[in-house]
Amino acid sequence: MASLLSASLSLLANAVPQSVGSLVTPAEGRQPSASQVLSQAALSVPKTLYNRFAGTPEHPEWAMYEEVIFNAVRIVATHAESAHPSSRTMVTRLMNLQSRLCSEKITQVSTYYDEGDVKGYWIGKPVDMSKDIVMVYLHGGSFITGHPLQACHALADLMSLLRKEKKLESRIYAVEYPLAPEQPYPAGLNSCVRAVRWIIDAVGAKNIVLVGDSAGGNLTLATLLRLRDHFPHAHTSTKFSAA
Ligand SMILES: *[C@@H]1O[C@H](CO)[C@@H](O)[C@H](O)[C@H]1NC(C)=O
Repeated sequence: MASLLSASLSLLANAVPQSVGSLVTPAEGRQPSASQVLSQAALSVPKTLYNRFAGTPEHPEWAMYEEVIFNAVRIVATHAESAHPSSRTMVTRLMNLQSRLCSEKITQVSTYYDEGDVKGYWIGKPVDMSKDIVMVYLHGGSFITGHPLQACHALADLMSLLRKEKKLESRIYAVEYPLAPEQPYPAGLNSCVRAVRWIIDAVGAKNIVLVGDSAGGNLTLATLLRLRDHFPHAHTSTKFSAA
């Protein structure tokens, strides 16, 4: 009985993905569609579970849910590199959904500065720059996906923590920078540098904090280096620190 169960589980975990594989895998040389990428991610779940229950986990040191999530995300991320723009748009929309969890006021910005676009979102109400702080947030997403408001709820939590614990009012500017591969390096970096210069011009460099996660962490450091090397006047009164 046990071996029958194990055999059917094995069939489910291996044969099903293979037969469905032809439906969810793009033909040679074709980019996978959004639904193909998602189906593949979904199919990785029974496979991961089977390996766990069969006693052959890929990462025995991880909790089961960690391995399941990791495998699914890995499939999406691997395919996203070469994926059809529609899959990336879909990931971006999913991330944008998170912005609905944001308790702060959101204002979209689209303006022009130094012969280029400045696009993004203000999170929170205007502040008094003589004592409050402005944070610039650069989102992650491997440079190819993601949305400026994807961490909006976490940023709103941070703002309320600063308000409660430190009596500090803050406002965050989340930059909408162009994504690769349609707009390859250095388009994204140029856009982040332009956005920070636009803010420094508007409010002064005194109380500005740059934050970013993942690819956004890279853009944060690269932006600071660019400002230091090419726009020294922009940071004369700026103290650099990393956290
Ligand atoms: C940012 O990432 C690129 C690509 O991986 C790398 O070449 C560059 O050195 C990174 N910059 C910083 C400041 O980490």
